[in-house]
Amino acid sequence: MPDLLISGCSEILTLRGSVPRRGKDLKDLGIIRDGAILVRGDRIAAIGPRRRIERLRDARRAEKLDLGGRVVLPGFVDSHTHLVFAASRADEYEQCICGATRERVARRGGGILASVSALQKASPKDLKDRALRALREFAAHGTTTLEAKSGYGLDWKGEFKILKILHELHQEQPVDISKTFLGAHIIPREFRKRPDAWVDLLVERWIPTVGMAGLAEFCDVFCDRGAFTLAQSRRILMAGRACGLVPRIHAEQHSRTGAARLAIETQAASADHLEKIGRADVRALSASNVVCTLLPGCALHLGLRARAPARELIGEGAIVALATDYNPGTSPTMSMTMILSLACSQLRMTPAEAITAATINPAYSLRQHDRIGSLEIGKYADLAAFDVAGYREIPYYFGVNLCAVTMKRGVVIHSRSGVHETAH
Ligand code: NIG
Ligand code: FE
Repeated sequence: MPDLLISGCSEILTLRGSVPRRGKDLKDLGIIRDGAILVRGDRIAAIGPRRRIERLRDARRAEKLDLGGRVVLPGFVDSHTHLVFAASRADEYEQCICGATRERVARRGGGILASVSALQKASPKDLKDRALRALREFAAHGTTTLEAKSGYGLDWKGEFKILKILHELHQEQPVDISKTFLGAHIIPREFRKRPDAWVDLLVERWIPTVGMAGLAEFCDVFCDRGAFTLAQSRRILMAGRACGLVPRIHAEQHSRTGAARLAIETQAASADHLEKIGRADVRALSASNVVCTLLPGCALHLGLRARAPARELIGEGAIVALATDYNPGTSPTMSMTMILSLACSQLRMTPAEAITAATINPAYSLRQHDRIGSLEIGKYADLAAFDVAGYREIPYYFGVNLCAVTMKRGVVIHSRSGVHETAH
């Protein structure tokens, strides 16, 4: 494959610099104006001001991709999704709008368990096709890597079905997928009366199997009212850790459980949601290496007022990331740019902070910061180009997709008409 010279970048947000980013450093986008990138194979061979890069001998011989003055940034890293599910829950969405609570929806057979029954009935082919369509949409919005959780199987057949589909999708399509085992999503109906028996099964059988067979890299638990207690969550994450699965945790979304402290105690890669944390939790998280992954799509979709204290977290020096939480119950979106808009307007993050929280910090939480999350020599040529006059316009325009080109490992995987490109 010949080298590729990408020019016509009015701004390149390189995100070079310290990893992970905390505090004031979240604002540091490492911008190059009128920049160019030389791609060799799947990696960045050179990056800098156009005039310098164009003069390189290899650049003169390279194929050319002119982005026509667009704003270029690292492809988004979406570090929290529930990619594989069988169907939407739009019926429940309407019930909630009309006043039904989460508990009432669950009593009527809705909620996570509704997605579990649907998944158990669905064929692997239908599940995979739906996930594939979603992945194309993620890519069309600028995402080049995502994390995906199991958790709608909740029997071994179902959980294995999801992890197998994720493995195949990772091999067969361009968006990279990091896998997380979320057998501890909720207590299945059959175990309602004896939840600890379910935890025993996870800890003694499934987690060791997943860890030993390398079916996932991470182990997650939904630690909240109506799901798993703190003590159960601790057992699950410790069992995962013992089997080589790095903890992630759904923490303090609907109620304050102590899950944020558990994330620190278990050296989790990430604590996600965090709407209900208090001042002391903010300080403890900020003093740790746990990434605080905020998911503002949930509050928008559910019409909730609770907000994660993003400003306090950034002020105290926490590692803040943003993700879609793509799932059929609480955040059905594939759009990281929509999440950036929400982070700015609802969590009062600045556009620069939000972009850092959607690229290099989530790359760190997925333990992939040496390869992705910033545009630097030696890293993958994973990038997104936006049809905007400056990077602030990316969150500023909301509910529209201005992503013109997405590139994964040097290959264009999404392009809107009007973008001139030579074959690569
Ligand atoms: O991240 N909190 C648990 N899991 C999802 C909700 C899943 C569902 O409702 O289907 C979440 O919000
Ligand atoms: Fe989630």
